Amino acid sequence: MRKKIVAGNWKMNLNFTEAEELAASLAEKLEGKALKCEVVICPPALYLEMATDFAEESVIKVGAQNVSNQESGAYTGEIAAGMLASIDVEYCLVGHSERRKYYHENNAFLAQKVDKLLDNDLIPVYCCGEQLEEREKENHFAIVEQQISEGLFHLNTEEFYNVVIAYEPVWAIGTGVTASSEQAQEMHAFIRSLVAKKYGADLAAEITILYGGSCNPKNAKELFSQSDVDGGLIGGASLKADDFVTIINSF
Ligand code: PGA
Repeated sequence: MRKKIVAGNWKMNLNFTEAEELAASLAEKLEGKALKCEVVICPPALYLEMATDFAEESVIKVGAQNVSNQESGAYTGEIAAGMLASIDVEYCLVGHSERRKYYHENNAFLAQKVDKLLDNDLIPVYCCGEQLEEREKENHFAIVEQQISEGLFHLNTEEFYNVVIAYEPVWAIGTGVTASSEQAQEMHAFIRSLVAKKYGADLAAEITILYGGSCNPKNAKELFSQSDVDGGLIGGASLKADDFVTIINSF
Protein backbone atom coordinates (compact mmCIF):
# COMPACT_ATOMS: atom_id res chain seq x y z
CA MET A 1 0.00 0.00 0.00
CA ARG A 2 1.12 3.53 -0.76
CA LYS A 3 2.89 4.95 2.27
CA LYS A 4 2.18 8.44 3.65
CA ILE A 5 5.29 10.17 4.93
CA VAL A 6 6.14 13.46 6.58
CA ALA A 7 9.89 14.03 6.55
CA GLY A 8 11.77 16.90 8.17
CA ASN A 9 14.84 18.20 6.39
CA TRP A 10 16.80 20.03 9.06
CA LYS A 11 19.44 21.13 6.51
CA MET A 12 22.59 22.72 8.07
CA ASN A 13 20.87 23.99 11.21
CA LEU A 14 21.12 23.50 15.00
CA ASN A 15 24.03 22.69 17.26
CA PHE A 16 24.19 19.26 18.90
CA THR A 17 22.26 20.23 22.04
CA GLU A 18 19.52 21.91 20.02
CA ALA A 19 19.26 18.92 17.69
CA GLU A 20 19.01 16.55 20.63
CA GLU A 21 16.31 18.71 22.23
CA LEU A 22 14.31 18.78 19.01
CA ALA A 23 14.52 15.00 18.55
CA ALA A 24 13.56 14.44 22.19
CA SER A 25 10.68 16.86 21.99
CA LEU A 26 9.32 15.21 18.83
CA ALA A 27 9.63 11.74 20.33
CA GLU A 28 7.74 12.92 23.39
CA LYS A 29 4.96 14.67 21.46
CA LEU A 30 4.42 11.65 19.19
CA GLU A 31 4.54 9.02 21.90
CA GLY A 32 1.45 6.84 22.02
CA LYS A 33 -0.27 8.79 19.23
CA ALA A 34 -2.02 6.96 16.41
CA LEU A 35 -0.34 8.45 13.37
CA LYS A 36 -1.61 8.32 9.80
CA CYS A 37 1.87 8.65 8.33
CA GLU A 38 5.45 7.62 8.79
CA VAL A 39 7.60 10.31 10.41
CA VAL A 40 11.18 10.80 9.26
CA ILE A 41 13.76 13.30 10.46
CA CYS A 42 16.83 14.16 8.39
CA PRO A 43 19.36 15.85 10.67
CA PRO A 44 22.91 16.84 9.70
CA ALA A 45 25.15 13.76 9.30
CA LEU A 46 26.96 14.41 12.57
CA TYR A 47 23.71 13.94 14.52
CA LEU A 48 22.42 10.84 12.73
CA GLU A 49 23.55 8.40 15.36
CA MET A 50 21.98 10.45 18.14
CA ALA A 51 18.76 10.53 16.09
CA THR A 52 18.77 6.78 15.52
CA ASP A 53 19.01 6.33 19.30
CA PHE A 54 15.73 8.26 19.64
CA ALA A 55 14.29 6.32 16.72
CA GLU A 56 14.87 3.05 18.52
CA GLU A 57 12.44 4.08 21.23
CA SER A 58 9.89 6.00 19.20
CA VAL A 59 7.98 5.99 15.91
CA ILE A 60 10.50 8.34 14.37
CA LYS A 61 12.63 7.09 11.50
CA VAL A 62 15.90 8.65 10.45
CA GLY A 63 17.08 9.87 7.08
CA ALA A 64 20.39 11.35 5.94
CA GLN A 65 20.52 14.47 3.79
CA ASN A 66 23.22 13.22 1.45
CA VAL A 67 25.36 10.21 0.59
CA SER A 68 28.46 9.47 -1.46
CA ASN A 69 28.15 8.05 -4.97
CA GLN A 70 31.06 5.75 -4.09
CA GLU A 71 31.09 2.59 -2.03
CA SER A 72 34.17 3.20 0.16
CA GLY A 73 37.79 4.28 0.01
CA ALA A 74 39.78 7.44 -0.56
CA TYR A 75 36.95 9.99 -0.80
CA THR A 76 37.80 12.50 1.89
CA GLY A 77 34.80 14.06 3.57
CA GLU A 78 32.27 11.66 2.12
CA ILE A 79 29.87 9.29 3.87
CA ALA A 80 28.99 5.96 2.26
CA ALA A 81 25.55 4.35 2.11
CA GLY A 82 26.94 1.32 3.95
CA MET A 83 27.98 3.58 6.83
CA LEU A 84 24.48 5.04 7.06
CA ALA A 85 22.99 1.55 7.02
CA SER A 86 25.36 0.45 9.79
CA ILE A 87 23.82 2.98 12.22
CA ASP A 88 20.20 2.17 11.23
CA VAL A 89 19.52 5.15 9.02
CA GLU A 90 16.61 4.13 6.77
CA TYR A 91 16.13 7.00 4.31
CA CYS A 92 18.38 9.41 2.44
CA LEU A 93 17.59 12.53 0.42
CA VAL A 94 19.08 12.54 -3.05
CA GLY A 95 19.27 15.51 -5.38
CA HIS A 96 17.81 18.18 -3.17
CA SER A 97 17.79 21.40 -5.21
CA GLU A 98 20.43 22.87 -2.87
CA ARG A 99 22.76 19.96 -3.75
CA ARG A 100 22.00 20.43 -7.43
CA LYS A 101 22.57 24.18 -7.27
CA TYR A 102 25.51 24.69 -4.87
CA TYR A 103 27.35 21.39 -5.40
CA HIS A 104 26.57 20.93 -9.09
CA GLU A 105 25.09 17.47 -8.70
CA ASN A 106 23.50 16.35 -11.94
CA ASN A 107 21.04 13.59 -12.70
CA ALA A 108 23.66 11.04 -13.80
CA PHE A 109 25.65 11.56 -10.59
CA LEU A 110 22.47 11.32 -8.52
CA ALA A 111 21.57 8.05 -10.24
CA GLN A 112 24.81 6.60 -8.81
CA LYS A 113 23.81 7.72 -5.31
CA VAL A 114 20.39 6.10 -5.74
CA ASP A 115 22.12 2.84 -6.67
CA LYS A 116 24.41 2.93 -3.65
CA LEU A 117 21.46 3.51 -1.32
CA LEU A 118 19.40 0.68 -2.80
CA ASP A 119 22.42 -1.65 -2.65
CA ASN A 120 22.45 -1.01 1.10
CA ASP A 121 18.67 -1.29 1.63
CA LEU A 122 18.19 2.42 2.24
CA ILE A 123 15.25 4.27 0.73
CA PRO A 124 16.24 7.14 -1.55
CA VAL A 125 13.99 10.20 -1.38
CA TYR A 126 14.70 11.50 -4.85
CA CYS A 127 14.04 15.23 -5.12
CA CYS A 128 12.99 16.94 -8.31
CA GLY A 129 11.49 20.28 -9.20
CA GLU A 130 11.72 23.20 -11.55
CA GLN A 131 13.13 26.70 -11.11
CA LEU A 132 10.87 29.73 -11.42
CA GLU A 133 12.13 30.65 -14.93
CA GLU A 134 11.44 27.11 -16.08
CA ARG A 135 7.86 27.30 -14.87
CA GLU A 136 7.40 30.74 -16.41
CA LYS A 137 8.54 29.30 -19.75
CA GLU A 138 6.16 26.37 -19.17
CA ASN A 139 9.08 24.00 -19.17
CA HIS A 140 8.35 22.56 -15.73
CA PHE A 141 6.94 19.23 -16.87
CA ALA A 142 9.89 18.62 -19.22
CA ILE A 143 12.43 19.46 -16.51
CA VAL A 144 10.85 17.17 -13.94
CA GLU A 145 10.52 14.40 -16.52
CA GLN A 146 14.23 14.70 -17.33
CA GLN A 147 15.24 14.69 -13.65
CA ILE A 148 13.19 11.58 -12.99
CA SER A 149 14.06 9.65 -16.11
CA GLU A 150 17.80 10.35 -15.86
CA GLY A 151 18.01 9.85 -12.10
CA LEU A 152 15.67 6.90 -11.61
CA PHE A 153 14.54 5.15 -14.76
CA HIS A 154 17.62 2.93 -14.96
CA LEU A 155 16.15 1.00 -12.01
CA ASN A 156 14.29 -2.24 -12.48
CA THR A 157 10.74 -2.66 -11.19
CA GLU A 158 11.74 -4.31 -7.95
CA GLU A 159 14.22 -1.55 -7.18
CA PHE A 160 11.76 1.19 -8.06
CA TYR A 161 9.32 -0.05 -5.43
CA ASN A 162 11.80 1.16 -2.81
CA VAL A 163 12.05 4.72 -4.05
CA VAL A 164 10.23 7.77 -2.70
CA ILE A 165 9.94 10.86 -4.89
CA ALA A 166 9.76 14.42 -3.54
CA TYR A 167 8.48 17.17 -5.81
CA GLU A 168 9.96 20.45 -4.64
CA PRO A 169 9.49 23.42 -6.93
CA VAL A 170 12.67 25.44 -6.34
CA TRP A 171 10.74 28.73 -6.24
CA ALA A 172 8.79 27.45 -3.23
CA ILE A 173 11.74 26.27 -1.12
CA GLY A 174 12.41 28.52 1.85
CA THR A 175 10.58 31.40 0.18
CA GLY A 176 7.23 31.29 1.94
CA VAL A 177 5.62 30.91 -1.50
CA THR A 178 3.90 27.53 -1.60
CA ALA A 179 2.73 25.83 -4.75
CA SER A 180 -1.05 25.88 -4.80
CA SER A 181 -2.65 22.54 -4.06
CA GLU A 182 -3.74 22.44 -7.73
CA GLN A 183 -0.16 23.01 -8.92
CA ALA A 184 1.13 20.32 -6.57
CA GLN A 185 -1.58 17.84 -7.55
CA GLU A 186 -1.02 18.51 -11.27
CA MET A 187 2.70 17.79 -11.03
CA HIS A 188 2.28 14.79 -8.73
CA ALA A 189 -0.25 13.27 -11.13
CA PHE A 190 2.17 13.92 -13.97
CA ILE A 191 5.02 12.20 -12.08
CA ARG A 192 2.76 9.23 -11.32
CA SER A 193 1.84 9.02 -15.00
CA LEU A 194 5.54 8.93 -15.95
CA VAL A 195 6.07 6.06 -13.53
CA ALA A 196 2.99 4.28 -14.89
CA LYS A 197 4.27 4.59 -18.46
CA LYS A 198 7.64 3.15 -17.52
CA TYR A 199 6.74 0.55 -14.86
CA GLY A 200 3.00 0.05 -15.15
CA ALA A 201 -0.05 1.36 -13.31
CA ASP A 202 0.24 -1.00 -10.33
CA LEU A 203 3.67 0.20 -9.33
CA ALA A 204 2.73 3.83 -10.02
CA ALA A 205 -0.19 3.51 -7.61
CA GLU A 206 2.20 2.29 -4.88
CA ILE A 207 4.80 5.02 -5.15
CA THR A 208 4.95 7.71 -2.47
CA ILE A 209 5.26 11.23 -3.86
CA LEU A 210 5.93 13.99 -1.32
CA TYR A 211 5.49 17.70 -1.76
CA GLY A 212 8.15 20.11 -0.48
CA GLY A 213 8.46 23.88 -0.52
CA SER A 214 7.17 26.19 2.23
CA CYS A 215 4.83 23.53 3.53
CA ASN A 216 3.64 24.70 6.96
CA PRO A 217 1.01 23.97 9.61
CA LYS A 218 -1.47 26.21 7.78
CA ASN A 219 -1.28 24.76 4.27
CA ALA A 220 -0.38 21.12 4.96
CA LYS A 221 -3.97 19.87 5.26
CA GLU A 222 -4.99 21.31 1.92
CA LEU A 223 -1.85 19.98 0.18
CA PHE A 224 -2.13 16.52 1.76
CA SER A 225 -5.79 16.27 0.76
CA GLN A 226 -4.79 16.05 -2.90
CA SER A 227 -5.11 12.53 -4.24
CA ASP A 228 -1.53 12.25 -5.51
CA VAL A 229 0.17 14.08 -2.63
CA ASP A 230 1.33 11.47 -0.14
CA GLY A 231 2.91 13.76 2.41
CA GLY A 232 5.62 16.37 2.66
CA LEU A 233 9.30 17.10 2.82
CA ILE A 234 9.45 19.92 5.32
CA GLY A 235 12.36 22.32 5.74
CA GLY A 236 11.91 25.39 7.95
CA ALA A 237 8.78 24.17 9.71
CA SER A 238 10.48 20.92 10.74
CA LEU A 239 12.79 22.86 13.08
CA LYS A 240 9.92 23.68 15.44
CA ALA A 241 8.52 20.58 17.13
CA ASP A 242 4.98 21.95 17.45
CA ASP A 243 4.78 23.02 13.82
CA PHE A 244 6.18 19.71 12.60
CA VAL A 245 3.71 17.75 14.74
CA THR A 246 0.81 19.85 13.40
CA ILE A 247 1.95 19.00 9.86
CA ILE A 248 2.21 15.31 10.80
CA ASN A 249 -1.38 15.47 12.05
CA SER A 250 -2.64 17.09 8.87
CA PHE A 251 -3.81 13.90 7.12
P1 PGA B 1 11.14 24.61 3.16
O1 PGA B 1 12.20 23.57 2.58
O2 PGA B 1 10.03 23.81 3.77
O3 PGA B 1 11.90 25.43 4.16
O4 PGA B 1 10.66 25.42 2.00
C1 PGA B 1 11.80 22.36 1.99
C2 PGA B 1 13.03 21.61 1.53
O5 PGA B 1 13.97 22.23 1.05
O6 PGA B 1 13.10 20.36 1.63
